[in-house]
Amino acid sequence: MTENLTWHSHTVSPEQRRRLKGHGSALLWFTGLSGSGKSTLANALEQRLMTLRVHSYLLDGDNVRLGLNGDLGFSDHDRVENIRRIGEVGKLFVASGTLCLSAFISPFREDRQRVRDALAPGQFIEVFVDAPLAVCEQRDPKGLYRRARAGEIRNFTGIDSDYQPPQCPEIHIQTDQLDTEQAVDKIVDYLKRHGVLTP
Ligand code: ADX
Repeated sequence: MTENLTWHSHTVSPEQRRRLKGHGSALLWFTGLSGSGKSTLANALEQRLMTLRVHSYLLDGDNVRLGLNGDLGFSDHDRVENIRRIGEVGKLFVASGTLCLSAFISPFREDRQRVRDALAPGQFIEVFVDAPLAVCEQRDPKGLYRRARAGEIRNFTGIDSDYQPPQCPEIHIQTDQLDTEQAVDKIVDYLKRHGVLTP
């Protein structure tokens, strides 16, 4: 399907974009169980980035599924396609010079690796938002675990669908041990130490 297409290079360089914005770009990939705190943490980080005058944009699970990925469900096949599309969108944001945040369960290691491989080294930053299933189930912010346990929702991650935790994430946040601001500090510190943000 792509045989008659040609990639067009942009005349504005990544370095020019970096100078204009005053910071680098990357894809901060939050992964974790439903209820682990991905959206809460990503939103709090965006607020902090705003005060640091960093151009960011958050791609959030439910919102993307209400639009671009509205045709996808929660079978393994659809989750793979969900992550593939988000990876492509994230890549465009990174190319635009934006610090892109994505908050999706993204349960399969291979899919996350594929997104990582599509970006330059250092541009894919995996943030494992880690909370035990029992804690997520206790929080149950949307009442979905209760419904999954009652058999009303099939293929629910952690119940009857697999979650494969990252083995070597760049950043590991245990949300039952750090509060949100401490977790934001940890991520901002990482971004400064790795030259995405100026120290
Ligand atoms: S992913 O697995 O494809 O990465 P994604 O992050 O987009 O999932 O969507 C997860 C959100 O969809 C959950 O936070 C929850 O609100 C909702 N959801 C609805 N059904 C399911 C399900 N079967 N498994 C997991 N999440 C579900």
